[in-house]
Amino acid sequence: MNPSSKMLKRQCTKPPKSTRLGSRARHASGAAMNESSKVPVLVTGGAGYIGSHAVLALIDAGWRVTVLDDLSTGFRWAVPDGVPFYEGDIGDTALLAHIFAEQGMGAGSGAVMHFAGSIVVPESVANPLKYYDNNTTKSRTLIQAAVEAGVPHFLFSSTATVYGEPEIRPLTEEDPLQPVNPYGMSKLMTERILADVSKAHAMNHCVLRYFNVCGADPRGRSGQSTAGATHLIKVAVEAVAGKRPHVSVFGDDYPTPDGTGIRDYIHVSDLAAAHVLALEALIDEPRRSLTLNVGYGRGFSVLEVLDAVDRATGTSVPRKQEPRRAGDVPSLISDPSRIRALTGWEPRYDDLEAIVTHALAWERKLTDLRRNA
Ligand SMILES: NC(=O)c1ccc[n+]([C@@H]2O[C@H](COP(=O)([O-])OP(=O)(O)OC[C@H]3O[C@@H](n4cnc5c(N)ncnc54)[C@H](O)[C@@H]3O)[C@@H](O)[C@H]2O)c1
Repeated sequence: MNPSSKMLKRQCTKPPKSTRLGSRARHASGAAMNESSKVPVLVTGGAGYIGSHAVLALIDAGWRVTVLDDLSTGFRWAVPDGVPFYEGDIGDTALLAHIFAEQGMGAGSGAVMHFAGSIVVPESVANPLKYYDNNTTKSRTLIQAAVEAGVPHFLFSSTATVYGEPEIRPLTEEDPLQPVNPYGMSKLMTERILADVSKAHAMNHCVLRYFNVCGADPRGRSGQSTAGATHLIKVAVEAVAGKRPHVSVFGDDYPTPDGTGIRDYIHVSDLAAAHVLALEALIDEPRRSLTLNVGYGRGFSVLEVLDAVDRATGTSVPRKQEPRRAGDVPSLISDPSRIRALTGWEPRYDDLEAIVTHALAWERKLTDLRRNA
């Protein structure tokens, strides 16, 4: 079968110079990872917010990266020059087989980092079939294509939403999984598919459950760019940049010290670094699969975050108190002990004001990018 014509939009197969230079990636044990262990990596959703930061982390560390993205919410310009890019769907079996063959992945070599998906919780409540299709059914297709090609490692973007409405305390990976919306359930179903597939086939996998992702590349190469985002720090820096009149604070009667919801905010570049370490861990122990929480293990309330935004920017962001939003839970805080112990992950940007500073710098750059587009 002929692969999709969209793949012809691929730009360049030659790795960027930085890809061919030596790696500075640190092995979980602290030793530099052997160059020959660096397999080619397919990043799905690599034109999106988190995927584009993972691409940067991988190429900075000397891995050879390819991106597959349908650009439904991502941006072609978010993929660095020189990274092979395929515009297409993760559910396109023929395209996947073509990419694996063309990029030298399969037959026991290579890895997939799977970020592509739909991420808006209220939309998942209104249109669950879209989420079960894009996040579960198409992920199943991608996993099958990887198995059939013989790609031995698979990393999957999951979410703290799989924990549902947990108690107000740090959550371990063993906490009950009770998603309360179709988005969370669509992710949990894919986790389950991976668990079963890894037992049956020559593939290991890592599920990474993200807490609240925020911030932007400290070097200003990428950031959160989707219009209409609902993430608190993104919304707050949009208000600082004059793109919104105020920030809505949803609910002031949660059982938390100041009544607003508490979340574990993690800088996107620390999250991206966690993926590189998780990939190394999968390569190190091919028979072992992992499920890892990725957060800092501490929480901030909405009001504490807005105070940090005010401090970091020297402004006073207007706040508008609103009723609770359907689906929001009082608290989501990770216990990141496992990822630290198993991969040696050490966050570099665990500082709200630094996160806000990076996010605001990106917001201003985004204004220029859009103006010049
Ligand atoms: N942003 C968060 O706070 C957060 C938290 C937990 C988990 N996640 C997960 O992280 C992943 C990335 O999220 P993000 O915030 O970067 O979102 P994003 O919307 O910026 O990125 C998703 C990317 O996937 C692409 N995509 C979507 N469906 C596709 C398909 N069928 N085929 C090919 N490409 C497709 C989009 O064009 C986009 O570039 C998602 O799987 C999401 O569920 C995100």
